[in-house]
Amino acid sequence: MKNIEIIGGKRLSGKLRIHGAKNSVLPIIAGAMLNSGKTVIKDCPNLSDVHSAFNILRNLGCKVALAGNVAEIDAEDVTCSSIPDDLMKEMRSSVMFLGAIISRCGNACISCPGGCDLGPRPIDLHIKAFRELGVEIEETEKYIYCKKNSELFGGNICLDFPSVGATENIMLLTAKSDGVTIIDNPAKEPEIVDLQNFLNSMGADISGAGTDKITIRGVRTLRDTIYTVIPDRIAASTYLCAAAGCGGEVTLLNVVPQHIDKVIWVLRNAGCYIFESENAVKIISDGKLKAVSGIETHPHPGFPTDVQAPVMAALSMTQGTTIFIENLFKGRFRHVAELQKMGADITRFNQVAAVRGVERLSGAEVVATDLRGGAALVIAGLMAEGKTIISDILHIDRGYEHIEKDLALLGANIRRV
Ligand code: EPZ
Repeated sequence: MKNIEIIGGKRLSGKLRIHGAKNSVLPIIAGAMLNSGKTVIKDCPNLSDVHSAFNILRNLGCKVALAGNVAEIDAEDVTCSSIPDDLMKEMRSSVMFLGAIISRCGNACISCPGGCDLGPRPIDLHIKAFRELGVEIEETEKYIYCKKNSELFGGNICLDFPSVGATENIMLLTAKSDGVTIIDNPAKEPEIVDLQNFLNSMGADISGAGTDKITIRGVRTLRDTIYTVIPDRIAASTYLCAAAGCGGEVTLLNVVPQHIDKVIWVLRNAGCYIFESENAVKIISDGKLKAVSGIETHPHPGFPTDVQAPVMAALSMTQGTTIFIENLFKGRFRHVAELQKMGADITRFNQVAAVRGVERLSGAEVVATDLRGGAALVIAGLMAEGKTIISDILHIDRGYEHIEKDLALLGANIRRV
């Protein structure tokens, strides 16, 4: 099992280009199935979650090739409509293939997506919406069987919660249909807008992504497209947190500043200088940060849950105390115990964590508990005195292209061992 070894205490400086967005490219890869032809995805990040998605497409009969960051998907012959257990287990968000498979094949069978690093991951909102749209669904202990008896005629869906995955699944299910589907209370994340733009580039007729109402006017066929994925706002936020915590001067290229406005606001309040241009962001930090008033995670446009752990690491060596409230996932404080091993002073009560800034962190042997929690440990290791060894780094590889190479380019003493 590989580990990441860090000798902390170095300032970061230099330029780094941010890769395409993992949480955008995954539903787009599923969407490629809706076209019985060729789809080219540019700026496709080279991540293990992306390779898992490619394996699911191959299992369904598609041909997939990734050259650098360009993915070519040929979905001419889809021969299967089920995802085997092992592939479902590899990536919890495989459930988002459900809508695309039903649309393409008329039926689908997947195993129930188990829990994951962040706690239970229910899909009740997906199932409820699909049933309201006319999909017959039978749930057993282990499997979910779906079948659409006739063409989908659309409908009005009001989501009880603005679930990202459920919004994406409904868009993928209904892009090709006979009617009009309205989604009220949809997720508004930039990745939803990217999925709308991707599907429309294939000939779909979707509008309203990013607002309180998405309208999907079903079309009969979709066509070949070449599409470039938006930059990964969570990866950009992670590197900003690293530069903020370590001190230094770092410029991130291929960034959409308004996608990370809440993170920029927090880091400016912590004492960093951040400059924005159309597609780049520059941060200057002396590494001596101030605590920030409460950070509470919410669906977009609120503070993103995926950046809660990286920001907690960056703010663990500050003057004062920062209160974090995690509203999205029950199991999203598992990095707290690992940060405490490095000397962080954090008191946790259910979904609240009070982080009292300490003078210094000390290197330690820690375990990556999940993707963003692992990224937080990398940041803490860069800030700490001495050596930090992070194990279970496969979690981190799910969402960051060669994180250690990128940080080494910025001057960090970090390597994969
Ligand atoms: C997406 O997960 C992202 N993953 C997550 O990023 C991100 O944290 C999350 O959205 C919130 O922004 C991808 O896009 C691949 P949700 P998703 O459905 O779709 C509950 C990362 O680190 N819920 O908006 O699973 C759910 O339990 C990952 O890159 C239901 O109760 O998120 C959670 O508490 C982690 N029933 C909340 O809603 C449902 O049917 C948000 O889930 C669906 C969700």
